[in-house]
Amino acid sequence: MTRCRICSGPVREFLDLGRQPRSDAFLPPGELDGEFFFRLAVGVCGDCAMVQLTEPVPAEAMFHREYPYRTSQSARMTEHFARTAHRLVDGVRDRPGAFVVEVGCNDGGILPALVRAGVRHLGVDPSGRAAEEAAGRGARVMTAFFDKASAAEIRSAEGPADLIFSANTVSHVPDLASVFAGADHLLTTGGRLVFEDPYLGDVLARTAFDQVIDEHVYFFTATSVREAARRFGFELVDVEPLDVHGGQLRFTVGRPGRHPVSGAVAGALRREERDVPELDAFAARVGRVRDELTALLRALRDDGRSVVGYGATAKSATVTNYCGIGPELLPFVCDSTPAKQGLVTPGTHIPVRPPDAFADPYPDFALLFAWNHAEEIMAKEHAFGAAGGRWIRYVPDVRVV
Ligand code: TYD
Ligand code: ZN
Repeated sequence: MTRCRICSGPVREFLDLGRQPRSDAFLPPGELDGEFFFRLAVGVCGDCAMVQLTEPVPAEAMFHREYPYRTSQSARMTEHFARTAHRLVDGVRDRPGAFVVEVGCNDGGILPALVRAGVRHLGVDPSGRAAEEAAGRGARVMTAFFDKASAAEIRSAEGPADLIFSANTVSHVPDLASVFAGADHLLTTGGRLVFEDPYLGDVLARTAFDQVIDEHVYFFTATSVREAARRFGFELVDVEPLDVHGGQLRFTVGRPGRHPVSGAVAGALRREERDVPELDAFAARVGRVRDELTALLRALRDDGRSVVGYGATAKSATVTNYCGIGPELLPFVCDSTPAKQGLVTPGTHIPVRPPDAFADPYPDFALLFAWNHAEEIMAKEHAFGAAGGRWIRYVPDVRVV
């Protein structure tokens, strides 16, 4: 039986997405041999309620110098992080020389806004190339995993931090205890760790099974984060729902008793008692989405209609590998990220092409893998719809729009 990575309690598996590759391991078309695969499955701890992958991939295999994801590819997310930076800065402004650390800053995150606001900061990210791009935007960065050792290094060079912010990173770290140990080492006594990640409640409500990827080791709830924080010497003091990336929760933790606990925490805990125990129903819906999506793509192919993918997301690795969608159903996927273009998707080997390939000529249908950026992408590609093109969605269910 699998043991919980937080509390060693018994983990009950409820969803098996089968043999999967590393979700961001795009490959050169001529170098397909020796690809790494693992079994992607999710379970829930019977003791602390943490939902987690049962067989996580080591962090070093996922987050390395060539990690291709770039936060800056979405204009809406860039705005979201600028807004977030301003709110965070308001919270620390009263302390002269306040110091803010962003964990998993990728190619910028909140750092460009901190640079503009003149706030002392440091970004920490193991993905060297992305971090260099953040430095190119004027930010101070360090290429490292955030843990006790790097936190100690930062503290001795810069002094303690008033605030640590992290987006889409804390849930990616298999050794969650190491993040809290780093925060404990680096934060001032009254300092806060604020992190935002996909929310299990939204994954379930939207049947967003493609949020399950190697990089998403944990699916947080207020219930599970409160318990994990407690075990690691912190207290959950606030939660805030965010309408980005398909539904997230922003968690604020501090040292026990140092901050008032907002009413939002109790509200979320109450809701989760009602909502979260539907893991098996969710797993049953996932199988239905797979059957409907593959049936639709096969019917369109047999009908001579053209279909391409939009957004070579990490999430799309789960969808294409779980559903058995390869180049015979989807001749290419377009994506704006230079580091992905010219490569093929992990496991299913669908070529990734730049966005201008989309209009050359427009396909009859586009399968929207980057559904969490739907508004931004559909606005950008309005000419596709105007030309008679239709979008295929599979979250929350399979539909053509
Ligand atoms: P995203 O959904 O943010 O994350 P993940 O890879 O973890 O699932 O990935 C969005 C992808 O879509 C990314 O590769 C960039 C691409 N993209 C476009 O091609 N065009 C766009 O307009 C946007 C917003 C994203
Ligand atoms: Zn547990």
